[in-house]
Amino acid sequence: KPCHTKLYHTVPSHTVPCQAVPYHATPSRAVPHRATSTSLTGGKRDTDLILPINSSLSVTLHQDQLRTTTTAAASRDFTEDRLWLNGEEVDAAQPRLQACLREVRRLARKRRGDEDASPLNLSYKVHVASENNFPTAAGLASSAAGYACLVSALARLYGVEGELSEVARRGSGSACRSMLGGFVQWHRGERPDGRDSVAQQLAPETHWPELRVLILVVSGEKKAVGSTAGMQSSVDTSPLLKYRAEAVVPERLSRMARHIQERDFEGFGQLTMQDSNQFHATCLDTFPPIFYLNDVSRAIIALAHRYNAHHGRTKVAYTFDAGPNAVIFALEDTVDEFVAVVRRSFPPASNGDRFLRGLPVGTAALPEEL
Ligand code: ADP
Ligand code: CO
Repeated sequence: KPCHTKLYHTVPSHTVPCQAVPYHATPSRAVPHRATSTSLTGGKRDTDLILPINSSLSVTLHQDQLRTTTTAAASRDFTEDRLWLNGEEVDAAQPRLQACLREVRRLARKRRGDEDASPLNLSYKVHVASENNFPTAAGLASSAAGYACLVSALARLYGVEGELSEVARRGSGSACRSMLGGFVQWHRGERPDGRDSVAQQLAPETHWPELRVLILVVSGEKKAVGSTAGMQSSVDTSPLLKYRAEAVVPERLSRMARHIQERDFEGFGQLTMQDSNQFHATCLDTFPPIFYLNDVSRAIIALAHRYNAHHGRTKVAYTFDAGPNAVIFALEDTVDEFVAVVRRSFPPASNGDRFLRGLPVGTAALPEEL
């Protein structure tokens, strides 16, 4: 019983280390992927249940552009669980994948208590194939999109409905936000069992139709330090991260929610940039330090500030998750001009490849080499 699901992938917004901080999201005409700002990640207080040290917020991007596509099948003929990612088989015994499978099956069992309609035997092994149409493990929230899509596909396979953000969270924390469209907050929650650590939509994708996201792919390479390891190391060693989670993020989150509610781009943009920068400061404060930004990332930051200074107000805002690739927010009327500026600033490399490509929101620039 194969099942095919397309889902929004979410992009991180950042807020803090990918998983730890908020992510930024990305909205687009119809829908955002994730992007926004504020803290997303910050780190985890429980690594098995994946409970974060702070709440976070992201924007979900439109699935027409950046997306993960996942197909899941179960059969009595399968002898083991198997997983293919971007065409290559990867280890399906990994605890996060198994946690998602276990939780979806548990929900299916519970449901069947009432009416046993599904013919699918819960002991059958599954085969899952997933593909991202954007760089994987490069700071564009592939883990969020990937696990959100995986859980949606498994839920359809097993006929499970309802609130699944708690299940997606077990795959990758940020995936809980990506189960929903629009502007999404992940509440840290207080319970040790994590039952209240769930995602909530603050505003639907139709709320801010002029908001656009531009993804600037600086490098499609897999990051040197994965988000999970990076966050753990930050939680263990960075005093700034602790301060940020307790003293900075809660206030910023409520401010960010207000900017979104009021569609106040300047407030939204400034806070997004400040939060991205503080997240990367916590990476530097981690010991040994983690560097997600590179020289091109920093040149993009400088360019955004020059562009805003030229216009005398915040017209574009950047945010970087745990990787060198930029997520730029702008309003519709600014996109063409800023893309032209980016093209002038980052001309094609001598080998003929484009150094860096900026596309209108929601249009993913596929990985290109520097
Ligand atoms: P990113 O910044 O892209 O989220 P992470 O280090 O957080 O990078 O996560 C990358 C990992 O997420 C991959 O190594 C893989 O284990 C998992 N992942 C990415 N895409 C998918 C997918 N489509 N399906 C399942 N797992 C995925
Ligand atoms: Co991630």
